[in-house]
Formats: sequence, structure tokens, C-alpha cells
Amino acid sequence: MDRLADIAALSSGPDDTAAIAQAIARVLKPNDVLVLGGDLGAGKTTFTKALGAELGIVEHITSPTFTLHQQYEGGRLTLHHLDVYRIDQIEEVIDLALPELFESEGAVVIEWGDTIAPALPAGYALLSFGFGDGDDDREISLLAVGPDWTARVPVLRDALADRLITDRQDA
Ligand SMILES: Nc1ncnc2c1ncn2[C@@H]1O[C@H](COP(=O)(O)OP(=O)(O)OP(=O)(O)O)[C@@H](O)[C@H]1O
Ligand SMILES: [Mg+2]
Repeated sequence: MDRLADIAALSSGPDDTAAIAQAIARVLKPNDVLVLGGDLGAGKTTFTKALGAELGIVEHITSPTFTLHQQYEGGRLTLHHLDVYRIDQIEEVIDLALPELFESEGAVVIEWGDTIAPALPAGYALLSFGFGDGDDDREISLLAVGPDWTARVPVLRDALADRLITDRQDA
């Protein structure tokens, strides 16, 4: 059976997405990689802003769509924020020096990272952002890849308990 997600949560607005980001920020460790995928404009940057704020970063986090990589210091962890949406040439992916980044002490967030799957490390959390029924409704799911994130799924399930979407297979 395919495992599409370990956790699926409903967000009813940007503040809800921020709350989900805060819960994930609290379990974030050095070296972690978050891969953000899903629909265009569904809230990946909104999520990353709240994640950074929860880490204690005071600098304003902006969308790295054109800069590809931004680095933020001053929080509990250094935050590397990447957006590979524009990347259409393998050379540009190589220029990002991802292997070095994945070995750094910081946390790495990659918008559209699911599009460069072969360049990703062995373990990461894949977050998918999708639109829901209402204008501000979003479905945010998390798939743990590797044992390190799998071990954190129960903690995150507890933290997000009141937002969880019931597993459709059980419904
Ligand atoms: N529940 C929600 N969660 C997140 N953003 C929401 C929500 N409801 C409405 N929004 C709005 O949707 C927009 C999301 O934009 P954002 O830049 O975060 O998306 P994105 O996924 O990073 O886009 P892109 O695919 O261009 O990188 C913002 O304008 C935000 O205010
Ligand atoms: Mg974005």
C-alpha cells in the first residue's frame, strides 16, 4: 500500500498554517531538511516565514523565487530557505551546492524540492500544500522519509491533534 502521508492537517487561514509551522519548528534539529511541494501559491512561503519566526529569526523572510537561496541567522538554528521553482537546468541545481548545505548545521527548507528528488538527502520531511474547499482552506500533509523523521511523527500528530484530517481510508 502506498503511504501518501503520515499526517494530514487542515488549515483554515494563514494563522493556522503558521501554527502548523510552529509545531514543526519546535521539533526541528540541526541538519534537518524540509521539502515543500504541492500547489502553486498554496502557502509554502507563508509556512516558512512562521517556521523562521518560531526559530527566533527576526529578519524578514521573503520568497527566494529569484535568489534561489537565502540564509537567515540569529535563531535557534540557521535557516537556509531555497526555492527551486525556476530551476530548469541541472547546472543551476549543482550551483546550489546542495550536498554541502545538507551537511551544514542549519535547517534547510526547499520550496518545490520534490521536483529535484534525486538531489535530496536520504532523510527529510516532505510537506505537501494543497487547496481546500474554501478560499483560505489548505490541506497540509507530512510524509516522513527515513527513520529520523518517522520517529517524530507521533509527537507531531499530538501537537496537531485538533487539526488532523481523518484518514480517508478509515472513513
Ligand atoms: N490557510 C492558508 N495558509 C497559507 N496561506 C494562505 C492560507 N489562506 C490564504 N492564504 C494566502 O495564500 C497565499 C499563499 O502564498 P505563499 O507565497 O505562501 O504560497 P507559496 O506556496 O509559497 O507560493 P509559490 O508556489 O508561488 O511559492 C498568501 O497570500 C496567503 O495569505
Ligand atoms: Mg513560495
